[in-house]
Amino acid sequence: MKRRMIVPATTFVAMLAGSVTAADDNQARDWAAGCQSCHFAGGTPLPKLHGQPRDQLVGKLRAFRDGTQPGTVMPQLAKGYTDAQIEAIADWFSRAKVSQ
Ligand code: HEC
Repeated sequence: MKRRMIVPATTFVAMLAGSVTAADDNQARDWAAGCQSCHFAGGTPLPKLHGQPRDQLVGKLRAFRDGTQPGTVMPQLAKGYTDAQIEAIADWFSRAKVSQ
């Protein structure tokens, strides 16, 4: 069976405009989804990441990664991310809606 992929015209418009923002944002959202198994927006004892200022989150994650901030889970976890990934994740959370 032959399958055809239907790509909306807007995708091409976005590509032509040199806009990779939507794709980047989807990638950031996917990375951030991994954090939300523990840090979900409501009803968790862990601090909420949604709505935290970007630079503050970047600082905390780098501190976990570099060993200046102790922790149980986060120091190991943060080591798995590059600076660019940390920045993208922090940026996504800073813009994410804080739900109750
Ligand atoms: C397995 C559960 C788990 C996952 C997944 C997880 N965290 Fe955490 N997070 C914790 C725990 C537990 C702490 C408390 C510090 C510690 O013991 O490591 C914490 C603390 C933090 C803090 C410090 C709290 C604050 O706001 O002062 C930040 C920032 C943070 N996590 C960000 C993230 C990000 C970003 C991700 C995804 C890349 C993530 N966490 C994924 C469990 C998790």
